[in-house]
Amino acid sequence: MTQHVAPIVLDPAARDADAEHRLLRAQGAVARVDILGVEAWSVTDPALLKELLTGQDVSKDGRRHWPGYDEAVRTWPLALWVAAMNMFTAYGGDHRRLRRIVAPALSARRTAALEPVVQGVVDGLLDGLETTPAGGVAELRERFAYPLPIAVIGHLMGVPEDRGADFRGLVDGVFDTMLTPEEAAGNNQRLYAMLDDLIADRRAHPGDDLTSALIAMRADEDGEGGAALSEGELRDTLLLMINAGYETTVNLVDQAITTLLTHPGQLAHVRSGRATWADVVEETLRHEPPVKHLPLRYAVADIPLPDGRTILKGEAILASYAAANRHPDWHPDPDAFDVTRLTKEHLAFGHGIHFCLGAALARLEGVTALRSFFDRFPDAELAVPADRLEPMASLISNGHRSLPVRLRPAAA
Ligand code: HEM
Repeated sequence: MTQHVAPIVLDPAARDADAEHRLLRAQGAVARVDILGVEAWSVTDPALLKELLTGQDVSKDGRRHWPGYDEAVRTWPLALWVAAMNMFTAYGGDHRRLRRIVAPALSARRTAALEPVVQGVVDGLLDGLETTPAGGVAELRERFAYPLPIAVIGHLMGVPEDRGADFRGLVDGVFDTMLTPEEAAGNNQRLYAMLDDLIADRRAHPGDDLTSALIAMRADEDGEGGAALSEGELRDTLLLMINAGYETTVNLVDQAITTLLTHPGQLAHVRSGRATWADVVEETLRHEPPVKHLPLRYAVADIPLPDGRTILKGEAILASYAAANRHPDWHPDPDAFDVTRLTKEHLAFGHGIHFCLGAALARLEGVTALRSFFDRFPDAELAVPADRLEPMASLISNGHRSLPVRLRPAAA
């Protein structure tokens, strides 16, 4: 059998992601794709994907396991996704070490303790939205979805309240693709300087926050009592929290609000008590996961597939979470958004050894944001026809370029 048929070239502008995902699923459990010039196996079969994400035959460490690594770092637009040095791209023992250090800071107990903080941030943002004249239009990504996770991450990391606005400005700069290279470099320098100030401050005055917890971690195995994270790893781990927890959460809030506004019957299920806000969050994560494809993984050994093909050692693998979530073997009528589904299982947070460490926090933010928004603005409606909402031009991030919504506060 021909191992390498011509790859499907994924559309970088992601103009019709659903159609592209259908095309990928039609190729079988895996499809040969070209993602911005790099060839990879896109895995869309949920059972196979879970198996690959659990075992040791697949790595995220391109330095060690991908012959294409050096060239990609030089030339690939998504180089940062493979070149960053933190748990996201670590394998085996390195991954276990880095993950074990961060995990306690995002434990169920710590996350639950953040509930009043999340509610406070949400209430403050909704107070701001209430200043929109009745019937006026607010851009909800900018005024609600973005400021929420960045305020929560700032709190989690122990960023002092009076530096919150600076912090958000610097973090926004990391995601702003319109900056010149000089502006971007200046922004990164200022963000690193701010993280260094934060680390120095928390070292001198430890608090009940993630930065202090990471500083306090000690290597437990070598018995030398040294810091478990080097200064560089500490900084890059804080950066990972920002990168992993920011735009993903924005997209969750964006997609949930959009889908409820375009499917009023689903909102009615929640209002009548037939479904909960947690159901809305889970169904949104299944139907419109914030991350569509996750680059990249690499075969550590040859991986034979059930259909006779083989992923060869060293070949790249793309976890195609959005396509897998709507696989017809997994859910009946998979394209329908239905908050009353009995099982809403999904892979939006990944699976196995790299499963999202912030999943509980993301769920808390999602539920709090949606419940409070629809309480405050029960008659909100999209300010443009749904088919005029433009998707972000990204194969990874699944959100809209903007979300204009007409607001009418609830009658007193
Ligand atoms: C709706 C919001 C979120 C979504 C959809 C999401 C999704 C994901 C996914 C898909 C992965 C696994 C990537 C892979 O395939 O290897 C991941 C990993 C991770 N996420 Fe999230 N995430 C969200 C929010 C957060 C938040 C709020 C935080 C923390 C503040 C966070 C921290 C992390 C970390 C540290 C990892 C790396 C885990 C590892 O490599 O072992 N995420 N996330």
